[in-house]
Amino acid sequence: MNTSLVVCTSNPGKLLELRAMLPSRMNLFSLPEIGITGDLEETGRTLEDNALQKAMTVHELCGLPCLSDDTGLEIPALHGEPGVFSARYAGPQRDMAANIRKLLNRLEEHNDRRARFRTVLAYIDANGKAHCYTGVVEGTIAMDPKGSHGFGYDPVFIPIGHTLTFAEMPTELKNGMSHRAKALRSFMEHQAF
Ligand code: IMP
Repeated sequence: MNTSLVVCTSNPGKLLELRAMLPSRMNLFSLPEIGITGDLEETGRTLEDNALQKAMTVHELCGLPCLSDDTGLEIPALHGEPGVFSARYAGPQRDMAANIRKLLNRLEEHNDRRARFRTVLAYIDANGKAHCYTGVVEGTIAMDPKGSHGFGYDPVFIPIGHTLTFAEMPTELKNGMSHRAKALRSFMEHQAF
């Protein structure tokens, strides 16, 4: 059966990544495709709050099943920072080079460089019921940025069992093992599409 699903993003890259991972019988629509423009509010204190807030807002506007995600890089030595503030760690301008510099500076005084990416997917089904799915990738933070693939903190994140950063890996290798892929697999396992 064909299923229509609104993906709460205006980011064409994210939509492409989801299209590649989800079965082709699922019709995915981005926010601009259903006429919603501008940024959605993300004022929650947790990834769960933010993902649910975005999916609920869009579901109330369009009445369709909605899928939304929020991701954070969580570092135990920094008490979970940058976490829910990953995109704006160094300020509201969302400058990734500055975010990475701040992270490496903060970690200078720590020997424990463990980190994890955590994605929370919020799904509001056709009946308006909310579901959350989580995906995690454990790893460490490199001493210096390396690699040019990917985005965000990829140049400093080395997944456990590997020697390369996410940004040094072929995109398919990262996407196959990523926090987002794991959350999506959990979503697909639990929802009978
Ligand atoms: P979002 O929830 O997908 O918007 O992610 C929030 C922030 O987390 C982004 O601005 C990135 O800095 C970071 N981030 C999310 N996913 C990834 C990833 O796969 N690699 C590196 N950084 C990521």
